Amino acid sequence: MRRTIIAGNWKMYTDTGEAKKLAQGIADHVGNRTEPVVILCPPSPMLTTVFNVIQNNPVLLGAQNVHPEPYGAFTGEVSEAMLESVGCSYVIIGHSERRILFGEKDVFLNDKALRVMTGKLTPILCIGETLKEREAEQTFNRIEQQLRDDLKGVTLKNGHDLVIAYEPVWAIGTGRTATPEQAEEVHSFIRERLVKMFGTAIADDITIQYGGSVKPDNAKDLLSQPNIDGALVGGASLKVDSFAAIIDAAG
Ligand code: PGA
Repeated sequence: MRRTIIAGNWKMYTDTGEAKKLAQGIADHVGNRTEPVVILCPPSPMLTTVFNVIQNNPVLLGAQNVHPEPYGAFTGEVSEAMLESVGCSYVIIGHSERRILFGEKDVFLNDKALRVMTGKLTPILCIGETLKEREAEQTFNRIEQQLRDDLKGVTLKNGHDLVIAYEPVWAIGTGRTATPEQAEEVHSFIRERLVKMFGTAIADDITIQYGGSVKPDNAKDLLSQPNIDGALVGGASLKVDSFAAIIDAAG
């Protein structure tokens, strides 16, 4: 069965005290609900802080980045095994901020995906077109290329072993959301591609989240679309009230 997943990408925000408070507020709100699946992705130094708050709760821990190598002289980077050892279950790969601001290319992201698949973490692979690409009617080409290149050589036993986040770059942090129809058009295209890559049974179980200025007032309409199975939330995940409202819109 396909899962609905609401993930909060805290980006480079929160200190220890704020992380504790935010995680506690969400844990209290979720209680023992297991649907939707809720994931918190704090900055790396806050992973253990958040894990300590949510460890006896259905809320899960995710990281914002991972390096493809298992260990080595890679100053500033973290490995898949390290993330597992501090309690992560998910890791974001290919966020547009990593692609654009840190120059991460598809081959590198493919190496990350392959590495993550050797362990227990589930990748949340972010894909999406820029405004320029959308205006040039290149959206579908771009999505197809990212799926093909980033998931090259990836095999799946189960649709739950991969999460896709469709995040149009022009909608991230801009307050400009894709309409539910615009998003659904791309999500159903992604589903078709996943069917071709992994077969119908597996593709049907893959959660495809939407991300880009998801807020309490647009979450329900987006999530009611047949191929929008969750949200990757930036700004609105930094306040208990707004993230809780998005969780409720999914549940
Ligand atoms: P936003 O960020 O909700 O602030 O637009 C989404 C994301 O970057 O994942």
